[in-house]
Amino acid sequence: MGRFFIVQGVSLLLSWGIIRWGLAGSWEQWVMAQALGAALLSWFFRHPPWWMILHLGFLPVGAVLWEVHWPRWIYGLGFIGLLGIYWSTFRTRVPLYLTHQTTLETLTELVELYQPRQFADLGCGTGTVLRMLAKRFPQVEFHGWEVAPLPWLLARWGTHDLPNCRITLGSFWTPSMREFDMVYVFLSPVPMSALWEKICAEMKTGALLISNSFLVPGILPWQTRDEDTVMPLYLYQPPGWGARGI
Ligand SMILES: C[S@@+](CC[C@H](N)C(=O)[O-])C[C@H]1O[C@@H](n2cnc3c(N)ncnc32)[C@H](O)[C@@H]1O
Repeated sequence: MGRFFIVQGVSLLLSWGIIRWGLAGSWEQWVMAQALGAALLSWFFRHPPWWMILHLGFLPVGAVLWEVHWPRWIYGLGFIGLLGIYWSTFRTRVPLYLTHQTTLETLTELVELYQPRQFADLGCGTGTVLRMLAKRFPQVEFHGWEVAPLPWLLARWGTHDLPNCRITLGSFWTPSMREFDMVYVFLSPVPMSALWEKICAEMKTGALLISNSFLVPGILPWQTRDEDTVMPLYLYQPPGWGARGI
């Protein structure tokens, strides 16, 4: 988080310099120069790619909100909402985005095919995946962990009538994966190596890790589904089942 605001601050100073030297006139130009500068600095320092989008929007959105003079409580509510969704993103490096409908259909096929008894979604977001699968497969136990409070609340609310679905507020690094036959993740490149270590240490032989879009560095997936789409599913088995280094 610190690195994000350092880049914002440096770009603020640089763009202020540009104004002083007369290269940009209006405050709108200054805001645009700051946003572009911050995005470029973020790219230069190889920060996560999605930070560039945050940098591009941070000051311009702030400036627009400043201008429109909405009642203060709307800003307060917006701030609390964003905090509830993204407060942990800077730590986990995993933002919230949801599994696509096509992937939900492939996951349904995989559950039908492998018939797990216990299924986990690590970082379950708003519970889209668990809600759909738990309805479809009442004989399977579904468990999700979500660290961000607002998505967790939505997931709890959306699955409250499904007795085979449990959603826990907290990090998925704490619980053991021993009980699970199938673990689904849709995270980011950042935690994949550490996750693989956890999976190898805890998951039983014959269990399946399914990663949406993100490969485990250095490990060949056992199978790939939806490979022609922008969101392929990589299937991994713990080493007892023959994971191979690339
Ligand atoms: C890309 S979203 C995926 C949401 C959901 N699995 C889906 O596919 O629709 C990833 C989620 O993982 C959560 N997350 C990241 N690290 C986590 C951790 N260590 N423990 C629990 N949740 C985590 C984030 O807050 C985010 O909501």
